[in-house]
Amino acid sequence: MQKFEIQGGISVDGEVTISGAKNAVLPILAAGILATTPMTIRNVPRLKDVKTLSAVLAGMGITVDTNDDNDISIDNDTLNSCCAPYDLVRTMRASILVLGPLVARYGEAEVSLPGGCAIGSRPVNLHISGLEAMGAEVTVHEGYIRAKAKRLKGALINMELVSVTGTENLLMAAVLAEGTTTIENAAREPEVSDLAHCLIAMGAKITGIGTDTLVIDGVEALQGCDYSVLPDRIETGTYLAAAAITGGRVKTLKADVQGLDAVLQKFKEAGAKLSTGKDWIELDMRGRTLKAVDIRTDPYPAFPTDMQAQFMAMNAVSQGIGVVVETIFENRMMHVAELMRMGANIRLEGNTAIVAGMPTLYGAPVMATDLRASACLILAALAAEGKTTVNRIYHTDRGYEKIEQKLTGIGANIVRVN
Ligand code: UD1
Repeated sequence: MQKFEIQGGISVDGEVTISGAKNAVLPILAAGILATTPMTIRNVPRLKDVKTLSAVLAGMGITVDTNDDNDISIDNDTLNSCCAPYDLVRTMRASILVLGPLVARYGEAEVSLPGGCAIGSRPVNLHISGLEAMGAEVTVHEGYIRAKAKRLKGALINMELVSVTGTENLLMAAVLAEGTTTIENAAREPEVSDLAHCLIAMGAKITGIGTDTLVIDGVEALQGCDYSVLPDRIETGTYLAAAAITGGRVKTLKADVQGLDAVLQKFKEAGAKLSTGKDWIELDMRGRTLKAVDIRTDPYPAFPTDMQAQFMAMNAVSQGIGVVVETIFENRMMHVAELMRMGANIRLEGNTAIVAGMPTLYGAPVMATDLRASACLILAALAAEGKTTVNRIYHTDRGYEKIEQKLTGIGANIVRVN
């Protein structure tokens, strides 16, 4: 199994070009199922999760062409099955995103029920009840969700909880349904909006984009389109955090400046100097003192759960005490124990972590437990004295394109070893 070896204590300095957003490209790939003509998706990050979803689509007979330019072309003319099997879905829960498009376009879907995962039980009840509200007949049997509908019907759906992939699945189902669908309490994450813009480019009729109420007028058919995925705001935040935690400077290029408001606010509170342009963000921490900040995760536009672990690492080496409250997932604090192995002073009370900043952390062998936990440990290692070995970096590869090249480019000492 591969690991990262990181020699810490170096202030990073330089520019990082941001990749396309993982959480936008996954639903947009699934949206390819809805099109009657081929489509091209650009700015696709080369990630394990993208490979997994491509394999799910290819497994259905869909032609998925990947070239070296971060573009993917999809042609579903060759589709011969509506099944997403357990072996693939269990490695990536977001495979559930094919459910809505399959029922909407082909009238049937058979998708393995994703199991629990490291950060929580993560049920998909809202995906299922939303499809049922649109008239689909859904059964869950032998670990599979089986859904059928001649043609879905528009419905009023009030999401009991804000769910990102839940909103996306129902949005993709509604675009081909007969009549109008209203999704209330919809997720407002920029990736949901990116999917909606892609669907509009395919011919869908959607209003309320970026608000918590999406109104969709179903159409008879959608065409393929040529769409470029928005930049990854979590990757952006992670590289800015690398500058903050090492007392360095990073300019993120080709970044989305809009989607990171709550995170940028917290960087400022932590003492960082920030500058932004149309598509870049620079964080300068040189000569400044990192201060602990309180964090509470919530759905967009509040502070994202996907940046919680990175700020935990920052708090661990800051001045003062920061309280971190995780409200989205029930078990997303597993990086705490690993940070403590590096000398962090953290008290965990349920989903609240009270972090007392230490002057430094010390390199140690640590283990990544999930994608963002792996980012947290890499950041901690960059700031720590001595060498850290981060194990289980297959989690990192799910969501960070070329992370060691990008970090090396800003002066970090990180190598991948087998
Ligand atoms: C998406 C993101 C993930 C991010 C998360 C929260 C993708 C591919 N992944 O995950 O990176 O951390 O949003 O911003 O976009 N829930 C239910 N029933 C459901 C659906 C969700 O109870 O049917 C609960 C979940 O268990 C969780 C909360 O709702 O506690 C939010 O989850 P959700 O927004 O659905 O997360 P994902 O879409 O899986």
